Amino acid sequence: MRGVTLAHISDVHLPLPARVDWRDVLNKRALSLLSWRRKRHLVHRPEVLARVVADMQAAAPDLIAVTGDLTNLGLPDEYRRARKWLEGLGDAGRVMVIPGNHDALVRGAWEAGAGAWRPFWQGDDGEGFPWLRRRGGLALIGVSSAVATPPARATGRVGAAQLARLGALLAGARAEGLCRVVMVHHPPLDGTVAARKRLLDGPALCDVLAREGAEMVLHGHSHRSHFQKLETQDGPAPVIGVPSASATHPEPAAWHRYEIAPETGGWRVTLTARRHTPEGMETSHTATHHLTRAHAAP
Ligand SMILES: [Fe+2]
Repeated sequence: MRGVTLAHISDVHLPLPARVDWRDVLNKRALSLLSWRRKRHLVHRPEVLARVVADMQAAAPDLIAVTGDLTNLGLPDEYRRARKWLEGLGDAGRVMVIPGNHDALVRGAWEAGAGAWRPFWQGDDGEGFPWLRRRGGLALIGVSSAVATPPARATGRVGAAQLARLGALLAGARAEGLCRVVMVHHPPLDGTVAARKRLLDGPALCDVLAREGAEMVLHGHSHRSHFQKLETQDGPAPVIGVPSASATHPEPAAWHRYEIAPETGGWRVTLTARRHTPEGMETSHTATHHLTRAHAAP
């Protein structure tokens, strides 16, 4: 492994189609549609997203991680549009996606739409969540926290089946000496979002991460930056949230660049946070993490 550049964006919320069939919104989608038409379309701006993506592409990252909420109502037409947008980012071998709560807004939404994104979310073995991709010394692991919820709720749940498989994937990747980067839409730790938006089994997810170890956790959902840390049996792991890639507030749209390179006794991770301003893109935050790990290949 010589070093890999990973770009992280999230909560893209691509514009809704101009026409939405009323038969598709006779459920929780009606409230979300109203919210989109009243205010959210003013917050999530396609021209802002285009500038963020152009800045990201100019950096020519090896890999691009998109952590959910590409859609607003999880409509099949939104899934198809998002597929085209994903294809515009790059080849499915280097672009990967996990769903967010909006992508599973009502029961069956994800099941109906998921096929459109399949090349972007399946693991190297063709399996679904949690999937694993090996890329240049990294083990990229995608976890789904997207489940349908009652109106006014945006909670997430990973579930026992995914947690069990995640534990096995983390242990296997450690045995291979890989740097494990876990992606999940909802923040796993407390202190980031209101109770009605939280990850219901966040403590159980953190238990698995702590017990089996991970090098880094990336999430979205809050539309804000978060820099937290989780203690694991292998050492502390940064848990980092990126703002929405298209929003004008509560924080400016942003993307995160990670340069991950081996160093003696572990990995060095250099984070550069790039955010949108009316004058152009700027660097808002930089940090270097030295992840000391016994399993890292010498
Ligand atoms: Fe979300």
